[in-house]
Amino acid sequence: MDRIAITGGARLNGEIPIGGAKNSAIKLMAASLLTDEPVRLTNMPRLADTRLLGRLMQRLGTQIVERDDGPDGQETTLHTPEVVSTIAPYDLVRQMRASFNVLGPLIARTGQAKVSLPGGCAIGARPVDLHLMALEALGARIDLHEGYVYAQAPRGLKGAEIEFPFSSVGATEHAMMAAALAEGTTVLRRAAQEPELDDLAECLNAMGAKIHRDPTANLPTIVIEGVGKLHGVTHRVVPDRIEMGTYAVAAAMAGGEVKLTGGRPEHIRPLIDALEEAGVTVNELNDGMVVARNGARLKPVNIETDVYPAFATDLQAQFMALMTMADGESVIKETVFENRFMHVAELRRFGADISVSGNEATVHGVEKLEGAPVMATDLRASVGLVIAALAAKGETVVDRVYHLDRGFERLEEKLSACGANVRRLKGDGPIED
Ligand code: EPZ
Repeated sequence: MDRIAITGGARLNGEIPIGGAKNSAIKLMAASLLTDEPVRLTNMPRLADTRLLGRLMQRLGTQIVERDDGPDGQETTLHTPEVVSTIAPYDLVRQMRASFNVLGPLIARTGQAKVSLPGGCAIGARPVDLHLMALEALGARIDLHEGYVYAQAPRGLKGAEIEFPFSSVGATEHAMMAAALAEGTTVLRRAAQEPELDDLAECLNAMGAKIHRDPTANLPTIVIEGVGKLHGVTHRVVPDRIEMGTYAVAAAMAGGEVKLTGGRPEHIRPLIDALEEAGVTVNELNDGMVVARNGARLKPVNIETDVYPAFATDLQAQFMALMTMADGESVIKETVFENRFMHVAELRRFGADISVSGNEATVHGVEKLEGAPVMATDLRASVGLVIAALAAKGETVVDRVYHLDRGFERLEEKLSACGANVRRLKGDGPIED
């Protein structure tokens, strides 16, 4: 199993390109099942998660062609002329819960699907009741047996009015994909507002769907007028706001000056505000931003995660790592997932002083961290450990790096190019520089 070794203390100076968003790319891939024509996705990240979903979709009948030197960089074309299987088995869904998102497109396109329930994960129980509620409202018959969802809609899906009890990214996306081909109009209330969702809507609209937000409604609302057929498209994946936010925090932690290119600062406004409050300089550009910190100690900042446009839960671990070295006490409140403090115990191994009560962590900043062997627990938690290691004295080895590989493309390369001392240790073998 690969590990990553980091010797802390080097400042970061240089440029980091920001790739396409993982959490958009995987939904766009699933959405390609809605048409029998090719869907070409550009600005595609190459990640363990996109590879895994690709493997599942190949079993369903999708032909996948990847190209790394397209006019807009890496691209993936997905083409499902015919759905040859409507089954998403446990062995694949368990490795990546977002594979569950093929359920809606499969029912919408073929009228049936058998998809494994994803189960919980390190950050919480993460039920899918709202996904199923939405599909039932659209007329699918849902039965649960032996860990699988059996869904049937032999006469097709029908538009419906659905009010979610709270905002869920996955359930909103799922309902949107299924409703795109339903008969009649669907209204989704308390719909999620994350940029990845708008990216999906934009792609579906370019495929012939009729989806718009209703800005006059009291609750965040999406209206979908079902169409009979969707066609192929070329679509550019929205830049990854979490990747950009992560490297912004890394630069703030290590000090120096880093230009992040290809990202959209307006998608991480609360993080930028928090960084500035901590004393970090952020200059926004048309296609990215420059993050700089020179000398002075960071000021403590309190944050509270919530659904978009609030502070992203996917940036919470990184920001907590940053606050471990602030000059004072900060309070970090997590409101989206019930168990997203797994990184606290690992951060303590660096000498961080953090106490947790319920969904609040109080971080007492320390003057120095010390490198330590630590373990990645989930994707964003692991990158929080990498951030701590960048400023820690001595060497840190992060174990279970496969978590990082799920969502950060060429992380060691991008950080090393800015002067960080980061290298991957392959399996149990020798160090690979
Ligand atoms: C998406 O997860 C992202 N994943 C997550 O990123 C991200 O943290 C999350 O949105 C919040 O922004 C993908 O896009 C693949 P939710 P999702 O449904 O869709 C509860 C990462 O690191 N809930 O908005 O699963 C749920 O348990 C990942 O890249 C139900 O109770 O998030 C959670 O507490 C991690 N029932 C809350 O809602 C449901 O049916 C919000 O979850 C669905 C969700």
